[in-house]
Amino acid sequence: MSDNEEKKEIRVWCDGCYDMVHFGHANSLRQAKALGHKLIVGVHTDEEIKKHKGPPVFTQEERYKMVRGIKWVDDVVEGAPYVTTLETLDKYNCDFCVHGDDITMTADGVDTYQIVKDADRYKEVSRTEGISTTDLVGRMLLLTKNHFRQGEKEYAIEKEALIIKRIQSLYYTKRKQNYPGSSNLGQDHSARSPWTGCSQFLPTTQKIIQFSDGKSPKPDDKIVYVAGAFDLFHVGHLDFLEQARKHGDYLIVGLHTDPVVNKYKGSNYPIMNIHERVLSVLACKYVNEVVIGAPYSVTEELVRHFKVGVVCHGQTELPMENGVHDPYAVPKMMGKFISIDSGNTMTTEKIVERIIKHRIEFEERNSKKEKKEIEAYEAMTKAKQNEKAG
Ligand code: CTP
Ligand code: C5P
Repeated sequence: MSDNEEKKEIRVWCDGCYDMVHFGHANSLRQAKALGHKLIVGVHTDEEIKKHKGPPVFTQEERYKMVRGIKWVDDVVEGAPYVTTLETLDKYNCDFCVHGDDITMTADGVDTYQIVKDADRYKEVSRTEGISTTDLVGRMLLLTKNHFRQGEKEYAIEKEALIIKRIQSLYYTKRKQNYPGSSNLGQDHSARSPWTGCSQFLPTTQKIIQFSDGKSPKPDDKIVYVAGAFDLFHVGHLDFLEQARKHGDYLIVGLHTDPVVNKYKGSNYPIMNIHERVLSVLACKYVNEVVIGAPYSVTEELVRHFKVGVVCHGQTELPMENGVHDPYAVPKMMGKFISIDSGNTMTTEKIVERIIKHRIEFEERNSKKEKKEIEAYEAMTKAKQNEKAG
C-alpha cells in the first residue's frame, strides 16, 4: 500500500441470538472488534430462534437493546438471518464474520457458518469458558448456590466434598425419575457438551483490564455514583445506567458482595457471583468504573474518596436489611441524591419468573442443544481419527 493510499476500514460482522446476554457474549464481541475497526452485530428474531433452537428468554426488542449497550458494538442489524451468507456480509460492507470456537447449527444440523467458512471470510475467537445462557438458566431452575461458593471450594475437606457429590448424584437420579426428559443442568459438567457444558469461569485481572476502559475521570468531570446488585444484567439496568450517566460525565457503579446481596434478597441470589457481575457491568457502554464489593450504605467517606457529585437510585425498592436502614441516608442529607425513573420495569426476579414459567420448554431446548453438540463433536472426532488412519 502506498503512503498516499488511505488505510481501509475493516468492518467485522458477528451474529447470534444474544439471549440473556452475558459477559461471554461481550468477550466474543470484544475480541471480534479487535480484529478490525468497526463491529456490526446481527441479532436474530424470536421466530428464527424458536425455529432453530427453541424459545428465547428475552424478546427481540430486549435483545437488540442489550447488544447495542455493549461498548465494543458500533451497529446492530435487527433480524439478521440465522445462516450467515455472503450476501449479508456484502450488504453491510463487512469483510469477514467472527464467531466463537463452538459450533452453531440450524434445526437440520447444518453448520450456520459453512458458507462464510468456504469463502474464507470467517475468523474464530475463543469462547469464554465457564459462562453460558444454558448454565445461568440451570442456576435459576435448580436454585444452586455453587456459583458464589467458589472461593470456599479449595478449602473444603475432601470427605465433605465427597458427601456433597453423593447427595447431588442422588438428587439428580431422583429428578431424572420424576422428569425423564430433564437435562443435567447444574450438575457435574464433565458429562456435558464440549462447548456449552464448560467448566466454571476463572476470573483474572487480565480479563478485568481487557473489559475496563482504564480512563480516570478528568479534573472537572462530575462523578455519578450508583450501587446495587446488578444481577443478571438486564434491560432495566441498562436503561437506568443510561439515565444515571446523563447526570454527570463519569459513571462509577458500586457492586455489593455476594453475601450482602444474599442477605437482602435471600434464596440463591445473586444468580451471578461478584466476578461475573463485575464483567457484565464493565461491558456496558455507559460505565466508566466499577467498585468491586461496594459498601451496602453510601458513606461520607466513599463520597469524598471518589469525589462523587451525585448518587442515583432507580424506582425499585431500596435494598433494606429488615426494612430499617436506608443505604442512601448520607447522600440524601448531603443534598447529593437523585431518584431516577428508568422507565423500565424489568427486574432480576422477573427473569427468574420467566425461566420458571417456561421451565419445561427451556429444559427441552437446552438438552436438545447439548445433544446436538455432543453428536457433532463425536462426528468431528471420528472424522479426524479416520483421516489419521487413512
Ligand atoms: N459466546 C462466547 N462465549 C460464551 C458464550 C457465547 O464466546 N461463553 C459467543 C458465541 O461463540 C457466539 C456469540 O457469543 O460467537 C453469540 O452466541 P449466541 O448464538 O448468542 O449464543 P450461544 O453460542 O448459543 O451461547 P449460549 O450457550 O450462551 O446460549
Ligand atoms: O436491583 P439492583 O440492585 O440490581 O438495581 C440497581 C439499580 O438499577 C437500582 O438503582 C435500581 O433502582 C435500578 N433499576 C432501575 N430499573 C429497573 C431495574 C433496576 O432503575 N428496571
